[in-house]
Amino acid sequence: FFQAVASPPSSNFLLLGPSGAGKTAFTTLLEAKSSLAPTKSHSTHTSQQSTLVTVTLPPTVPTGSNRYRSDNDPSLTEAMRNPIKYRVRDTPGHGKLRVSQGISELQTMSQSKDIKTRLRGVVFMVDTAALVDEATLRDTATYLHDVLLFLQKRAKNGSSSKRTTDIPVLVAANKQDLFTALPPGAVREKLEAEIDRIRKSKTKGLLDASADTGLEDEEEILGNDEQETFSFKLLEHEVGIKVDVVGGAVKGDLQEEFGSGVRRWEEWVGMCL
Ligand code: GTP
Ligand code: MG
Repeated sequence: FFQAVASPPSSNFLLLGPSGAGKTAFTTLLEAKSSLAPTKSHSTHTSQQSTLVTVTLPPTVPTGSNRYRSDNDPSLTEAMRNPIKYRVRDTPGHGKLRVSQGISELQTMSQSKDIKTRLRGVVFMVDTAALVDEATLRDTATYLHDVLLFLQKRAKNGSSSKRTTDIPVLVAANKQDLFTALPPGAVREKLEAEIDRIRKSKTKGLLDASADTGLEDEEEILGNDEQETFSFKLLEHEVGIKVDVVGGAVKGDLQEEFGSGVRRWEEWVGMCL
């Protein structure tokens, strides 16, 4: 007999961020939302391996190619019959596994020549209740800095004739259900200020090194303009990399009562599709 076949998932998203941010909890929730069958939770402990899951976008979430989909739009019925699928790669956030897994996935996925499997966006998840701790802030900002610097180099290396497609970044400001959580605006400011500090100390290190050897160092500075204080706006203006900071919660009342804790992240995903 004839069975309706959903379109194959073709859009990939990469989930990065420090350990304990909630990446696996988010992945598990997306899987649970995508199927009627109960999903077993993967998030009992720190991840050591990347996993790839296929999930669906809720039909009411608009997509970039179908921006004006509304509740009484006939395309909504179509979206419910044939939901849009996308893939999420969850990576371990532990410091020792970042280069071998998170950053290495970023390299592989962003180099995919196949338009069908190309990387559509990076979700960088942070625990907004943990950022008041100086060491956690420094660690989180360092990881984000390295991710953004990779994307900046990638954007520059793309030849002008065959421009590389942009990979936008969502900073998912998770755990907004906790009363100690910093609001998204404060998360943005803290990350920008800390990345600025990292940038400054890198520039200083480079100057010292080049004074020693007398050689010009090719290493570039995130956001290019070292005179300006770093901000995500500067990065967008100078390099064309768009970073959005959006609050949400995978767990807690926000999620359980309204089911809306991750809605705005799904909307960001939708706009990338
Ligand atoms: P690694 O695998 O080590 O990189 O960590 P991870 O980012 O995958 O973190 P994980 O999903 O394992 O979550 C860490 C802890 O945070 C778990 O105990 C989750 O239940 C908890 N958690 C995740 N999201 C939220 C949230 O929105 N609110 C609260 N209160 N807790 C959360
Ligand atoms: Mg995990």
